[in-house]
Amino acid sequence: MSSRIEWVRESCGLLRSIAEQYDVTRPFAGLTIGTGIHLEPKTVALLLTLRRGGARVVSTGNLNSTQQDAVDYLREHGVDVVGGPTADEREHDRHLRTVLEARPDMLLDNGGDLFVRYLEQPYPGLLGGTEETTSGRARLRPLREQLGVPILVINDSPIKQFAENKHAVGQSVFESFMRITNRATNGRRVTVFGYGACGKGVAANFRNAGSLVSVIETDPVLRLEANFDGFAVPDREVALAMADVVVTVTGARDVVTAQDLHLLHDDVVLLNGGHFPAEIAVGGICADERVKSVTDITDGITTIRLHDGRRIHLLTDGHMVNLAGPRPLGNSIESMDIGFALQARCLEAVAGGRVGAESVVVPVPRFIDEAVSEAYLAMA
Ligand SMILES: NC(=O)c1ccc[n+]([C@@H]2O[C@H](COP(=O)([O-])OP(=O)(O)OC[C@H]3O[C@@H](n4cnc5c(N)ncnc54)[C@H](O)[C@@H]3O)[C@@H](O)[C@H]2O)c1
Repeated sequence: MSSRIEWVRESCGLLRSIAEQYDVTRPFAGLTIGTGIHLEPKTVALLLTLRRGGARVVSTGNLNSTQQDAVDYLREHGVDVVGGPTADEREHDRHLRTVLEARPDMLLDNGGDLFVRYLEQPYPGLLGGTEETTSGRARLRPLREQLGVPILVINDSPIKQFAENKHAVGQSVFESFMRITNRATNGRRVTVFGYGACGKGVAANFRNAGSLVSVIETDPVLRLEANFDGFAVPDREVALAMADVVVTVTGARDVVTAQDLHLLHDDVVLLNGGHFPAEIAVGGICADERVKSVTDITDGITTIRLHDGRRIHLLTDGHMVNLAGPRPLGNSIESMDIGFALQARCLEAVAGGRVGAESVVVPVPRFIDEAVSEAYLAMA
């Protein structure tokens, strides 16, 4: 794994050039940054960049995604890592609170976990920080008045939307389907649920690979956009009945449930690229009386056999297919390099007072989007 971490660090051109600049500018000298984000090779590259800027970094991971090798590597390189891999919510809560006991000057949050706990026991001097996700933005926005410090939401940068959610998720969901099933996509009928940024990328990547793609989207405006982009937008029932492959990328629950079993044809493959495993109601489907057996066929593939002989194959138990299953790599290094360059530049702007207290839970400022775009294009 260390060699994988080295490979990722080597491939993060933006973060490497920011780190070189930080050796001189030291924007975080004397500051502590508390982080609560997945601890895996790409975040290692980010956290070590912040160290190069002079920060003391106190980190813990997210629930169920921490990689021990990343923890070991970070500790070897001077990051204070609290805890290790855990799926226990109470233990995770303790880790987050331990990060806050260091009274960080800035927080790099993922899902609002740190900022929400900070509000339970605020301490003087918090300068602000960043929030990575949409779900964190939704959680923190009602707390803006109490928070009262600049918090920049990385997911709301247009660059993150197209570079990661659209292009990288599209590619990696497609790549994961190929890697796990080893099946051809040419001529396959693929139904994509959701035509947000991620769904657009998924639909485009399967189409590029010769599939006949249909889009199911609850928002009629986006349905129209899918139609103008050249995808079929049939009724939900028709799309499910035709599908050889069904992909959910909506962020919603119960998008495909046991009530759809009668529509699915033999040998259909179901996979989810959305954040929550509840998009495909796996529990309800497996418990349905029409199900004869549920068998883990091979790493990442579960086959659900119905009494009438049909087989439904579920990938990675409905968890995000590009981050679960055999050898999950997640989104491309370049897309994460861009997102994490936004993180570093946003934290730098907060540390340097370039964004004021009015910027509580707001998108990445335009000047940072422009600087990161120019830096990436200059490297290309
Ligand atoms: N796998 C990854 O690496 C990765 C990366 C980024 C985001 N995500 C996740 O992917 C999901 C989608 O992200 P996004 O940025 O595209 O969000 P988005 O909000 O832009 O798009 C989701 C779309 O799904 C539609 N939708 C909701 N319920 C639906 C339903 N029942 N049937 C059909 N359409 C429905 C919505 O109208 C919306 O247009 C989120 O859960 C997000 O957290 C995954």
